[in-house]
Amino acid sequence: MIYNSKKILVTGASGFVGGFLIDEAISRGLSVHSAVRKSSNTKILDQLNTTLVYFDFEDIDGMVQMLKDGSYDYIIHNAGLTKAKAKEAYFKVNEQYLRNLIEAIRKADLQLDKFLFVSSLAAFGPADFQDNNIVSESSTPHPVTSYGRSKLAAEQYLKKQQDIPYNIIRPTAVYGPREYDLLTVYQTLAKRIEAYVGLSKQKLTFVYVKDLVRAMMDILMSDHEHTRYFITDGNTYSAQEMNAIVKRELEVTWTVPIKLPIFLVKVLAFFSEKMAGLSGKYPPLNIEKVNELQARSWHCDISPLQDDIAYKAEYDLDNGLKETIAWCKKQGLV
Ligand SMILES: NC(=O)c1ccc[n+]([C@@H]2O[C@H](COP(=O)([O-])OP(=O)(O)OC[C@H]3O[C@@H](n4cnc5c(N)ncnc54)[C@H](OP(=O)(O)O)[C@@H]3O)[C@@H](O)[C@H]2O)c1
Repeated sequence: MIYNSKKILVTGASGFVGGFLIDEAISRGLSVHSAVRKSSNTKILDQLNTTLVYFDFEDIDGMVQMLKDGSYDYIIHNAGLTKAKAKEAYFKVNEQYLRNLIEAIRKADLQLDKFLFVSSLAAFGPADFQDNNIVSESSTPHPVTSYGRSKLAAEQYLKKQQDIPYNIIRPTAVYGPREYDLLTVYQTLAKRIEAYVGLSKQKLTFVYVKDLVRAMMDILMSDHEHTRYFITDGNTYSAQEMNAIVKRELEVTWTVPIKLPIFLVKVLAFFSEKMAGLSGKYPPLNIEKVNELQARSWHCDISPLQDDIAYKAEYDLDNGLKETIAWCKKQGLV
């Protein structure tokens, strides 16, 4: 390991991507501070060589002091709200908290080498709306969810902050151990139910969490500034291809296929939202989720990443799911 005396602050360290990111930053020899909340689950971080710092994105003065104390060289702003009942919450956490953090960086007069903001492919939306059926830097963004719109608003703000040496990364669906959204797919297939939404073929994209965090650190360490990158593993997959890999890893030899037309899923989502409204909970199936599920293509252009940091994914869905499902089995989740 090459020793690097520089200091990094990673926000959203307690989340799925955060845990892997902290591990990767430590392996690069950096001195790593993990920004968490008092309420965060820090079980994974407690086992790693990282210092926990408690950040409140609403308290700008408090952040200024912590940034001065930390005198960081790098910041990865990875904290983000991916699920919320109220649409305003996405804008508060994903856009306003970024604004507050940048204000605190300026007030602290922090001279950063780099600031990496974790956006999402959702900020541009699916490729369905693009003439050439691929989302790229020159595409007109067409987010289909409030989450995506909040990430786009954050990006638009950050692009104007030319004094900040920022990069933006836009991951497609990230998967791996400790990720619980796709776990539902594995568990449903384990019960021999093979569900498809919509009747036409989809082009899905994925990135394995270890490839994502490696690319994030490579971008951070690079000389490229004010650049923006989509990231996938470089392939597109149909839902059938994905399910076939999951079934192989689960040793499920037969399933009952169910094809759900979009209008039926919309009706189910409508009632699911109404029921959840009564209980005050976030429903896993909601109208915005349907907007994502009904998209036919999430194909995006990763060539800027290949050109700038020679990115090449080590994992495709085949070996990524193999590792993920092995972990799920070990945890007794499938
Ligand atoms: N997973 C994906 O497929 C995917 C795809 C594209 C982009 N992304 C982006 O990648 C980043 C990490 O996502 P993830 O999958 O790791 O999500 P996650 O597991 O839900 O983690 C989110 C992290 O953000 C923190 N956070 C959320 N709301 C916060 C708030 N109000 N104040 C302070 N911290 C808050 C969480 O802290 P607590 O632990 O305290 O809740 C957690 O550490 C996010 O910015 C997300 O938008 C993810």
